[in-house]
Formats: sequence, structure tokens, C-alpha cells
Amino acid sequence: MEQLFLSVIGGGAMGSALLRRWVDSGICPPNQIGLREPDSVRASALQKELGIRLLSDLTQAGESQIVFLAVKPQVFATVVAEMGQLTASELVISIMAGIPLQQLQQAFPRQGVVRTMPNTPALVGAGITAISYGTGITPTQMEQVEKLFRAVGEVVTVAENQMDAVTALSGSGPGYVAVMVEALIDGGVRVGLPRPIATQLALQTLSGTAALLQQEQLHPALLKDRVTSPGGTTIAGIDALEQAGVRGALMQAVQAAYERSCQLKGS
Ligand SMILES: NC(=O)c1ccc[n+]([C@@H]2O[C@H](COP(=O)([O-])OP(=O)(O)OC[C@H]3O[C@@H](n4cnc5c(N)ncnc54)[C@H](OP(=O)(O)O)[C@@H]3O)[C@@H](O)[C@H]2O)c1
Repeated sequence: MEQLFLSVIGGGAMGSALLRRWVDSGICPPNQIGLREPDSVRASALQKELGIRLLSDLTQAGESQIVFLAVKPQVFATVVAEMGQLTASELVISIMAGIPLQQLQQAFPRQGVVRTMPNTPALVGAGITAISYGTGITPTQMEQVEKLFRAVGEVVTVAENQMDAVTALSGSGPGYVAVMVEALIDGGVRVGLPRPIATQLALQTLSGTAALLQQEQLHPALLKDRVTSPGGTTIAGIDALEQAGVRGALMQAVQAAYERSCQLKGS
């Protein structure tokens, strides 16, 4: 049987989303991917859907070149104990929130370790993943890691001490945006639109504005200036936003999430 390239530990929300994109985009042949997932129904469904191999126990993970940890941080210690010494693996990639590189390196002393923080839009291929590399990772391995995450969106490399800030912005960000979208929809309903139409208008306005800012590399202040005509509707709306302190509230949201992330790390 062909050697495994990649072992994925945990086929939950994030693990299965990544697996789907890797197989669909042809990044890795499905017969070179192994999955260890304790929920047998979920595991068999993924095997059937994607043609990947199922690992009957965690020790088999060590036979693959790369081990990908997609379990909750609470089960990390159990997984490490069950996995034992990784025999053939060169690289361990973790998406577990709050597990530092030092702890990963302690658990896997003979492997290169990589800590990452993807976000929920990765489930539809529109995520952004922050990556921090442990010591001794080669440029080829870095390229491998980035290729895996580019399959589910964009990637950025950050120093590990910026991971709490990443968590506060892009990790928690989908929650802030969801609240903003819901409020815009309610606003639309408030001024007489049917909810389904208000929903479509709000969502497309949000994704369209993000696409415009990205594609034209436009500073947000310039876009705001472009769309505010003197005495017009948009400046009236922005005046209301400023009076409600929306900018300060968003900055405070990131600050509060950052402090919470630092706190959880220490607890
Ligand atoms: N979801 C996100 O947007 C997101 C974003 C950034 C980072 N993350 C990180 O990604 C990791 C996974 O999150 P998730 O949302 O995908 O969680 P999840 O849906 O709960 O997936 C975790 C999976 O791991 C399985 N598992 C539990 N114990 C195991 C073991 N001993 N061996 C192998 N698999 C085991 C679970 O199976 P059972 O359900 O049967 O226990 C479950 O299928 C977390 O560490 C989280 O911090 C997630």
C-alpha cells in the first residue's frame, strides 16, 4: 500500500472542510490521506465521499509524512499519548486554538511543528489562516503548509506572539460580521423591505464592498468619501453610525477578544 502523505486527526467541522477542499482541488491523492475520527458514522461518510483511508488507531498517524491535528485543544494530551512516537513523520501542523509552539515541540521533539489559526469562512474556501512556524522548518515545508491552507482561502505568516491578536480579529471576526449583517437586515425590514430581500441586499452589499476594497486596493476612507454626496443619504447614515460610536465599538470588540484570548491561555 502507498505511503500516507497526510494523516488528519479529527474529522469535525474544520477537519472535514479542509479534507474536502484538499481532495477536490487535487492537492493530494485521496489514497495518500488517512483520517482518524472516533465517530464511526462521520468517519465512514467521509471515507465514502472522498475516497480517503481510515486509520484504525492513532499510532498509524506516525507513518505519514505530515500529521495534521484538527481536534479540540482539550483532547490534545490524550491524542499525543495515544499516538506515541511518530516513526516516519517530519511535520506536525496544528489548528488547535491556544496550544503554543513550545507545547507542540515538547510533544513532538523529533518533528518540525507549525501552529495555525484558520477561521470559519474556510468552510466555504474563503477563510484566512495565520501561520507561525516552529524552528527548523525548511522552505519546502513552508511551501507545503501554505499550499494546504491556500486551498481554503488566504494565508499570512505571523510571529507566534501575534496569535492572540489574530484570534481577536480574524478568528472572532466572523461573529462580529454576523452581528452587523443581522442588524443591517433588521434595518431593512424596519424601513419596509421583506426579510428575504433585506437579507440578500445586506449579504451582497457586504461581500461586494469587501471585494471592491480588495480588488482595487482601495483605502476604506477613500471608498467612504466616494459614496457620500453632499447632503445625501449615505452621509446621513454615517452620521448616525458615528453618533452611536460604531468605530469605537468595533475597536473595543477586538481589544476585548484579545484580552480574553490572553486570559484563556493563562488559565
Ligand atoms: N471551527 C473553526 O472555525 C475553527 C477555527 C480555528 C481553529 N479551530 C480549531 O480547530 C480544531 C477543531 O475544531 P472543530 O470546530 O473542527 O471541532 P469539532 O467539529 O469538534 O472537531 C473535532 C473532531 O475531533 C474528533 N476527536 C475527538 N477526540 C479525538 C481523538 N482522540 N482522536 C481523533 N479525533 C478525535 C471529534 O470527534 P467527536 O465529535 O466524536 O468527539 C471531532 O470530530 C479546534 O482545536 C479549534 O480550536 C476551529
